[in-house]
This record gives sequence, structure tokens and C-alpha cells, in this order.
Amino acid sequence: MSEILILTGAGVSAESGLGTFRDVGGLWDQYDLEEVATPEGFARNPALVHEFYNLRRDLMQKAEPNAAHRALAKLEREIGDRMLIITQNIDDLHERAGSKRVLHMHGRLANAFCAHCGSQRKEVGALSVADACASCRQPGGMRPDVVWFGEIPHHLEEIDQALGRAELFVSIGASGQVYPAAGFVAAAQRLGAETLELNMEATSTAFNARKIGPATEIVPTWVDEILSR
Ligand code: APR
Repeated sequence: MSEILILTGAGVSAESGLGTFRDVGGLWDQYDLEEVATPEGFARNPALVHEFYNLRRDLMQKAEPNAAHRALAKLEREIGDRMLIITQNIDDLHERAGSKRVLHMHGRLANAFCAHCGSQRKEVGALSVADACASCRQPGGMRPDVVWFGEIPHHLEEIDQALGRAELFVSIGASGQVYPAAGFVAAAQRLGAETLELNMEATSTAFNARKIGPATEIVPTWVDEILSR
């Protein structure tokens, strides 16, 4: 079984009711990303940023993993450490479907940290500017553990190593618009991997193969194909 490296984007959680960013009516049609997804936006208006992420955290908690998340968890149960999921998503649906080998390169909405002292908090509820940090006691610093535009994504070293090991790179529900994730497919190809896109529409990036359709249909079918080899 080849080493399979999977990149997921918002499209894998779309059918669980969580919004994507760049589809028509997506989150970046509804909100100005400069205001809600940058450190400058947080400094300017932290209450608006908390409102944006509190709403998304509430929707995440009410959402259920879908057949695509479950199929990827089934693949991991079958092939274990021969696969790894790198997700751009900040939701916890991969984990709630049973996946354990997941790297959240853009952080995790369920967690928070203090911008003043860096102390981490797990599984938080709604955040507000009134929250004081349990460690440094300073108010106003608690922020979602989410990588904003202009900040460095997590796990880049591990991702680099995984790209070097991958024999098959699969992009699921990602538009290929945001770097560094958008560059992974070219890097995987350069390093000798086969590349496959499973997405609602073909993105401009050059994959060796594509399957177009809703993730809840094409991901389980692909997993069954892989496991029948
Ligand atoms: N099944 C499969 N693919 C889908 C589905 C679906 N049901 N619905 C939407 N898609 C596809 C869209 O066609 C699109 O290509 O998912 C992709 C979603 O693209 P984006 O909204 O740009 O989301 P993503 O690629 O994850 O964005 C990357 O940008 O704003 C930042 O940090 C944010 O992690 C995010 C990053």
C-alpha cells in the first residue's frame, strides 16, 4: 500500500453544513477576511472577531461528520500510518469521525491561546474580550487557536517530510487558492508522487487525475477502490 498524503479543505465539511470560503455565498462573501482573519483585524475590533469565531464554533459543535470524513477514518483504520491527513480546516469533524492522524495546519477552532503570554486552552466555549487569561490574568488577549492571514501555518516541517515520503497525494475539497497548501501538489509531483484531486469542481492546479462530485459520494468510492487493490 503506498504512502498516502491527503490534504483536505472546506469542501470536505461543506455537506456537514459548515460554510466554505470561496464558493458563491461563502464566508468571504459574508465577511471581510481582513476584519475577522488577520491579527490587525483582531487588534482593531476583537469583539467582531470573537463574534465570527463563536458563530463558527457553535455551528461546528452542532455539525456531524459526513460520509467523506467517515470514509477517511475507515481508510486510516485499514492502513494506519501509511496515511496522513493535513487539513486546512479548523473544525474537528475528522477527529469526531475517528481519524487520529490529522495535522491542522491552520489551527483548531476548539482551542484558544492568550496573545499576551501564549498559554493554551482546549475545548473552549464562546470567547469574549472580557475573558482574562487563566495564567497571566490579563484580559483581552484570549484568541481562537486559528492561523490568520499573515501568520505562519503549523506543522510545516512535518508536512515537508510527509511530502517527501508520499507516493500518492490526494487533495479533497480544497480550492488551491491559499499558500503554502496550494503548493503541496506541485511539491509532491516534483518528489515523485502521483496526484489526485477529489473536488466539486476542477481547480486550475495540474493533478495527474481528478474525480469531480460531492465529497460524500466521491470520497467513499475512492476509499473503497483503494482498499480493494
Ligand atoms: N464536495 C467536494 N468539494 C466541495 C464541496 C463538496 N460538497 N463543496 C465545495 N467544494 C469545493 C469547492 O469547489 C472549492 O474548490 O471545496 C473547495 C472549497 O474552497 P475554499 O472555500 O477556498 O476552501 P479552502 O480551499 O479550504 O480554503 C483554504 O483559505 O481562507 C482560507 O484559512 C482558510 O483554510 C482556508 C483556506
